[in-house]
Amino acid sequence: MTDIKRVGVLGCGLMGSGIAQVAAAAGYDTTVRDVSQQIWDKARAGIEKSLAKFVEKGKLPAADRDAALKRLHFTTATPDLKACDVVVEAVTEDLELKNALWRELDGLCGPAAIFASNTSSLTIAAMAAATKRGDRFVGLHFFNPVPLMPLVEVVRTVTTSAETFERTFAFARSLGKEPVAAKDTSGFIVNLLLVPYLLDAIRAVERGVGSVPDIDKAMQLGCGYPMGPLTLLDFVGLDTTYKIAEIMFTEYREQRYAPPPLLKRMVLAGMTGRKSGKGFYDYSLDPPKVVALGV
Ligand code: 3HC
Repeated sequence: MTDIKRVGVLGCGLMGSGIAQVAAAAGYDTTVRDVSQQIWDKARAGIEKSLAKFVEKGKLPAADRDAALKRLHFTTATPDLKACDVVVEAVTEDLELKNALWRELDGLCGPAAIFASNTSSLTIAAMAAATKRGDRFVGLHFFNPVPLMPLVEVVRTVTTSAETFERTFAFARSLGKEPVAAKDTSGFIVNLLLVPYLLDAIRAVERGVGSVPDIDKAMQLGCGYPMGPLTLLDFVGLDTTYKIAEIMFTEYREQRYAPPPLLKRMVLAGMTGRKSGKGFYDYSLDPPKVVALGV
């Protein structure tokens, strides 16, 4: 067990709500901050559904589910996170938005509190520098769906102290996750390798190498991946992938991180994947059906 008792989560979208769920399920008093009750209601419903699945499968006693839900608090007021020992940020990949929240919290939280960003691709150092706790700032990168994926990347930037890094590692383990250590370079380990693969799958669609279902089937059956790359893109979100690719392209100036034109056009058309109901597949149909893209 760690010395951490109270966890704060900034943002309760797909990732934030998953992080809040695992923190509450691991026994932490968890306060989640987002901008409206409508967003919390959606997050709470998703968390209830996910916990219900674990209960259904006999992986979680119903009493533990109820206790986890009692430990979850939602708020619109950032100062409600001031007593937290760790704050995990999972808001949109917008450095200014993230830093405005970090600046506000820096003046409110106790001196021992750790600030951890779930950013996929932004530089941890650029957030740490917005605070006066560069030594207590880390990256803590979870994977979607957070309640199921065992990995967490613990990211140490140039200012992170060894003590903070160790406390965060222990915290990640206490959430039932398997941590790995990563350096503060854009994309860390997983996205450095995964993003070019996903972008190449889109390029394969653009070039007509194979149909969307065949590209997915090829990587699933040929490489044993649980999802094909285009299904995974719909799952992660095309808008999220586009933002990550832009950030990584800016950092590395390498063609393999450049978002392909088709990705940009699909995002502009609102085809962001599962969250909007349509991406490479149409999720209004059961089973989802491939979308005719006109490429
Ligand atoms: N909570 C609880 N249970 C869940 C759940 C959740 N959030 N989501 C799915 N499940 C359950 C399902 O209900 C299902 O239960 P059942 O066996 O009783 O039917 C079980 O998990 C398996 O789910 P599915 O049958 O729907 O599908 P799969 O067998 O394909 O498993 C998966 C789902 C675990 C998501 C698997 O497809 C997978 O591992 N996919 C790859 C995901 C991945 O690569 N994630 C990383 C993305 S990159 C990222 O996040 C980084 C970011 O920076 C971009």
